[in-house]
Amino acid sequence: MRLDAYIVDMGYFKSRGRAKTAILAGSVKVNGAVVKKVSRDVASDDEIEVAEGLDRPQGYFKLKRIQEESEILQPGDRVLDLGSSAGGFILFASEIVGHVKGIEFSRDFRSELGKIAFERENVEIMFGDVFTVPLKTLSEEPVDVILSDMTLEPQDSIKALAWVLPLLKENGKLLQVIKLPKKKNPKPTLSKIEDLGLEILQVISSKKQEIYVIARKPGSGENEPVSGEKESESGEKEPEGMETDQN
Ligand SMILES: C[S@@+](CC[C@H](N)C(=O)[O-])C[C@H]1O[C@@H](n2cnc3c(N)ncnc32)[C@H](O)[C@@H]1O
Repeated sequence: MRLDAYIVDMGYFKSRGRAKTAILAGSVKVNGAVVKKVSRDVASDDEIEVAEGLDRPQGYFKLKRIQEESEILQPGDRVLDLGSSAGGFILFASEIVGHVKGIEFSRDFRSELGKIAFERENVEIMFGDVFTVPLKTLSEEPVDVILSDMTLEPQDSIKALAWVLPLLKENGKLLQVIKLPKKKNPKPTLSKIEDLGLEILQVISSKKQEIYVIARKPGSGENEPVSGEKESESGEKEPEGMETDQN
């Protein structure tokens, strides 16, 4: 049997996709040797070793990396996760913060998200459309962090952001994932985020066709230029340089 299918059958991974990622990353050994060929033929008498903690949705590792670069999440934070999918962001955030509430449109993720909410006391899930649920239902109190990753066109991501922004505390932080082809200039989208009154702290690039924007909601009365901004030659404020992801 193929190695990727075999380790799914053995219960190490929920999907062939996750098994393949682990094999290609060199995290699977057959009879003591790392094997990176996903289709390698294995039999029941082969000894298989799989590194621990890898059977998680991709979003888990994405947010882990963003956290390493931005420290957007802090212990005790109240977090809102828009577009929770299989719960990668939720799983990672719930290891750090006080409370995470996720909203997901698709019922396809019902069992995965339900399991996470059942197993983790600090996780709450609701199913619905971010654009139509009453804000109060999303969160009864203001949140410290909003994570927004909804596979939408940039202009629709901004619309969703404008809708949920009243829920973010002053000085609260935002992670906005923006789907963007590599060659497309991010500045118009970044300007739209700033037009919502947010201060962009960091823009993290990735090998995927997306960028990760970390922003802050200024406190009322703040109008001084904030550190992290610099003046461009044209006099416009710009976030500090794009950080390049090697993942
Ligand atoms: C890229 S995935 C999010 C991945 C997630 N951050 C993770 O940790 O794995 C985008 C998700 O957003 C959901 N979504 C898209 N539009 C939505 C909406 N209007 N309301 C709620 N969820 C939405 C999609 O169903 C999809 O599951």
